[in-house]
Amino acid sequence: MTGSDLDGIVDDIEKRIRKDEERRFSEIVIREARNPQNMGRIEDPDRQAMIMGPCGDTMEFSLRTRDGRIEDIRFMTDGCGSSIACGSIATRMVLGKSLEYASDITARDILDELGGLPEENRHCAKLAADTLSKAIRNLTVKEP
Ligand code: FES
Repeated sequence: MTGSDLDGIVDDIEKRIRKDEERRFSEIVIREARNPQNMGRIEDPDRQAMIMGPCGDTMEFSLRTRDGRIEDIRFMTDGCGSSIACGSIATRMVLGKSLEYASDITARDILDELGGLPEENRHCAKLAADTLSKAIRNLTVKEP
């Protein structure tokens, strides 16, 4: 087998994977998973939380607030592409919004914003919503 035969096989496999992704996931999910926004950790955050979901993956949000609004927010996850998409869209949904607004965000809201997820990935939205809600309640105690 030549190098170009191998390249052709790899191209073909990649095309099939992309087609399968496009069949199972909305455009928004694919966009957020491939190009997540606000991924990382805020140094010295006002509020933060991390939760491990039933699947064993973790989700983490850290945020900084000013006058009751979310001035900056980041998420981290070691989970699947769906959890990356959920974390990313959740940060987009609440950035600049009030803490009250953000604390009302549910898994359903995240799923609606993403254009849905396959049944087996819906728990990723719940993990993101639960972690965001916990982070909003978790005031970080700062050193005096
Ligand atoms: Fe565990 Fe997505 S968060 S599979």
